[in-house]
Amino acid sequence: MENVKIIGAGYAIPDQKVSNEKLSQVVDTSDEWIRSRTGIVSRYISRQENTSDLALRAAKEAIQSAGIDSRMIRLILVATLTPDNYTPTVACQVQAGLGLNDQPIMAFDINAACSGFLFALECAASLLKEGVALVIGAETLSKILDWNDRNTCVLFGDGAGACLIQRVQDGSSMTFYARSQGDVDHALYCPDRGLQPDLVNQAQQKTYLSMKGRDVFRFAIQAMPDAIQQVLAGQSLDSVDLMIPHQANIRILEHVSKKMGFGMEKMFVNLDTFGNTSAASVPIALAQAWEQGKIQEGMHVILVGFGAGFTWAACRIQHGKGEDTQ
Ligand code: UT7
Repeated sequence: MENVKIIGAGYAIPDQKVSNEKLSQVVDTSDEWIRSRTGIVSRYISRQENTSDLALRAAKEAIQSAGIDSRMIRLILVATLTPDNYTPTVACQVQAGLGLNDQPIMAFDINAACSGFLFALECAASLLKEGVALVIGAETLSKILDWNDRNTCVLFGDGAGACLIQRVQDGSSMTFYARSQGDVDHALYCPDRGLQPDLVNQAQQKTYLSMKGRDVFRFAIQAMPDAIQQVLAGQSLDSVDLMIPHQANIRILEHVSKKMGFGMEKMFVNLDTFGNTSAASVPIALAQAWEQGKIQEGMHVILVGFGAGFTWAACRIQHGKGEDTQ
């Protein structure tokens, strides 16, 4: 358990909204199929902004919402599987974009796919000694989608979410759980361009994300309840005011809700608008909940995610002093 607290949150999405109808002009699918199988109605696809641009915009929103001087930041962690470059990292690009290159900051990226933001939050909470940590989840998944593969391209979108955390002594805490399990069957897979054994004359192949949807579905409905139970550590789910899950598929969330006896009305859902934005999905939802005033002092919130790797994780947030800690 770490005595850290969220002090601000923000998000950024690209300017191009793509409806299911529009997608069905590009690939053999339909609004009816996508809605009924996933709950997704639209997603945002970037035309010009890369991952670092979205990450920087989300970071600026989070800093503004916290009302802090950005020079308080000591740590920048970015969760992404779609960075702009192999190097430098998105985190270093964000540091430069914020004009903080002269500050004593540690900045690096984390790739744990859709669980990435939760992994990054845990790392930030345990690494943070003083000042503020900026934790971001940002993706331009559209770069690695095969727009002819209806099994994948209809599910994902681009975007970024960010939050700032600070060490506090006001009863706030975060309790983490994170797990990994090597996906030997390539249920969720995106290879790189490969080795270059002959040194010359190698075709640089573009590679795409592929997925065995049913296998991932089965994994998700086991992994999410596991992570939630682990961070509850015996406490009742009744004490949880809000659940902010990874936004992959409404049927996964309904399944988890039913299995755990946790009402859908306490589950934050925005996948209808944004689709699955991988590492950005939990922080975008968190930032929207923050903006809508759904995270108040004394509240008990759970963030939970699962993704490629495989990875799965949760964070139980006691935001300010709770009833049981008063
Ligand atoms: O962050 C983690 C990311 N991934 C996930 O969370 C994915 C988890 N899995 C899922 O959400 C679901 O498995 C999907 C939404 C991906 C697929 O739903 P499903 O009910 O498991 O469908 P299916 O894969 O069993 O496919 C059923 C049918 C197939 O046709 P046939 O073989 O029955 O004739 C597919 O070819 O639906 C077809 N299909 C589509 N049809 C129209 C697959 N994709 C599409 C599409 N539009 N986009």
